[in-house]
Amino acid sequence: MKDMDHELPEGVTRVKLWDPALRLFHWALVICVVTTWVLGRYGPNIMTLHFYLGYAVIGLLAFRLVWGLFGPAPARFSHFLFGPRTTLSYMSKVGRREPSYWPGHNPMGALAAFGLLGLLGFQVLTGLFADPEDFINVGPLANQVSTDTARMALGWHYRGSLVLLALVVLHVGAILFYKTWKREDLVRPMITGWKAVRQNPDQR
Ligand code: HEM
Ligand code: HEM
Repeated sequence: MKDMDHELPEGVTRVKLWDPALRLFHWALVICVVTTWVLGRYGPNIMTLHFYLGYAVIGLLAFRLVWGLFGPAPARFSHFLFGPRTTLSYMSKVGRREPSYWPGHNPMGALAAFGLLGLLGFQVLTGLFADPEDFINVGPLANQVSTDTARMALGWHYRGSLVLLALVVLHVGAILFYKTWKREDLVRPMITGWKAVRQNPDQR
């Protein structure tokens, strides 16, 4: 890795940014969420697998919560919690045709990360309480709430799945934009951990 550093601009170095657990978390999340979504919409009538994969997503989110509070610095929520000024300043320059070299999630990536994690939390919560009244796919906590609430949870679970789809398309679209327009590959760092970063980015 080091022998490639001479190609990098002044002040930019290649560092091990993403730890193995976070990378494993991300790709496991992708697999579980995609299959849960597809099984929910297009799977067999009996959605046992949808439920099991949904529980796997709950486990992954629980891990991410712990990692966001106590994990390595770049994985911590506090590391990618930006105020409106930093975010707007970053957004105003995002069209520049150059890599951001951001040492972690940049302010826009941070919005996607919090948005996706929050929405997934909402999705599993509504799923747990959802009751389609078909006597087969009842959410395991639906009997703890009124019939109306369980029906409402199902409605929100459905709407949530559409918002999730839109957010994932936006997320992947943004990564493609970085790759093609800004010439910055964000995917490889999420696989290998190594990323070229500028330690004090001027909000590029
Ligand atoms: C269901 C699909 C997906 C979900 C739910 C998802 C979710 C997430 C989340 C929550 C993060 C923040 C990571 C963290 O700190 O926890 C993230 C980051 C990231 N995701 Fe995804 N992702 C999905 C699909 C993909 C795909 C298909 C790709 C590859 C093209 C991808 C590439 C990345 C990259 C490169 C980052 C890091 C971006 C950065 O450098 O800030 N994701 N994703
Ligand atoms: C990432 C997490 C999840 C996603 C993306 C997801 C997505 C979906 C989708 C797309 C549907 C079909 C909606 C429709 O077309 O009407 C669905 C239905 C459903 N999901 Fe989930 N879901 C998730 C987690 C869960 C969990 C954890 C549970 C409960 C353990 C759950 C329980 C249900 C129930 C009860 C239905 C209705 C089934 C029916 O209509 O017969 N889901 N989900």
